[in-house]
Amino acid sequence: MTESDAKTFLFEKNPKPLAASEREALLENPGFGRVFTDHMVTIRYSEGRGWQDGRIEARRAFDLDPATVVFHYAQEIFEGMKAYRLPDGGAALFRPDANARRFRNSALRLAMAPLPEEMFVESVRELVRVDRDWIPTADGAALYLRPFMISTEVLLGVKPSSDYIYCVIASSVGSYFKGGAPAVTLWVSENYTRAAPGGTGEAKCGGNYAASLAAQAEATREGCEQVIFLDAVERRYVEELGGMNVFFVFDDGSLQTPPLTGTILPGITRDSLITLARDLGLTVREEPYAIDRWEADAKSGRLTEAFACGTAAVVTPIGKVKGRKYNFTIGSGGAGQVTGKLKAALLDIQNGRAPDPHGWVDRLF
Ligand code: PLP
Ligand code: COI
Repeated sequence: MTESDAKTFLFEKNPKPLAASEREALLENPGFGRVFTDHMVTIRYSEGRGWQDGRIEARRAFDLDPATVVFHYAQEIFEGMKAYRLPDGGAALFRPDANARRFRNSALRLAMAPLPEEMFVESVRELVRVDRDWIPTADGAALYLRPFMISTEVLLGVKPSSDYIYCVIASSVGSYFKGGAPAVTLWVSENYTRAAPGGTGEAKCGGNYAASLAAQAEATREGCEQVIFLDAVERRYVEELGGMNVFFVFDDGSLQTPPLTGTILPGITRDSLITLARDLGLTVREEPYAIDRWEADAKSGRLTEAFACGTAAVVTPIGKVKGRKYNFTIGSGGAGQVTGKLKAALLDIQNGRAPDPHGWVDRLF
């Protein structure tokens, strides 16, 4: 099978899909990342033969040798995207081409075989079509797609693997934060950083998340929902949260978000919100913002709102910031007006309730 052939997936229907009544019960309150659909996509790569054996089949466990590279050296990347229900019962992906491009960039950074972008998009589209009954209809719910790639060579030598499995699984999801969290409290990590210049910060690799967990656990112990990471060089500039980008809103109506200098994940939600904010006539700066400045601006009232954004989190207001040296509230501590407006503008496009002037919506059926 050549690269272009792999776009056509061999389809073997799950002989034992979950009963409709059980599926409906799960979709009522799916939470995040616990409810999985009946099928998965796999495509295999091996040096010399390229990408081959694309298939959609019953979701099942992998059978891997204990010496498989991914278990030892974490050569793994992933993506996160959603399929949204449209008002007429159809469904759409949001900017899947952007996820495909980021997946390719992540692969190159981790010295993995890049998957052709068209193959990535087609694999996700096909899985959503096959598992369409798993797309929840409740407001704010969606089918979360998790494409990922692991190295599968059996070898303890440290080198890029010669073999890979690319896989897509799907999970029916509601809100990422428990109870829909009207506003989250962040913990400023002083003990840990997420990414250093020259590291893997802008790649979506599992290792970045493994490295963030001790900081996230510290945040949880302190009663905070997410950790906020500062830059690794000066330990001064706000970079991003464990799994979200961050925006600041000022009293003159302008917005600011940290620039993409290689240490933060180039979020597709971040990019979309910059465009939507400018469409609304707002000024957006991509400039560094120091944590002490954030505290001073929050206290003086110059900063009126702040929010986290990402596929899983959508747009979530930041109410409070805590840390060993910090304890301040942003605005009223709840959802602000600009945040609400941007969230609505984004969700309206994603859910097909508003026109799509930028061609972001990829209708599947
Ligand atoms: N930053 C990190 C560390 C993330 O894990 C995510 C989520 O994917 C984001 C930012 C936001 O990216 P996106 O908007 O593409 O989902
Ligand atoms: C996403 O938003 O897709 C992510 O990968 C973030 C993660 C915290 C679930």
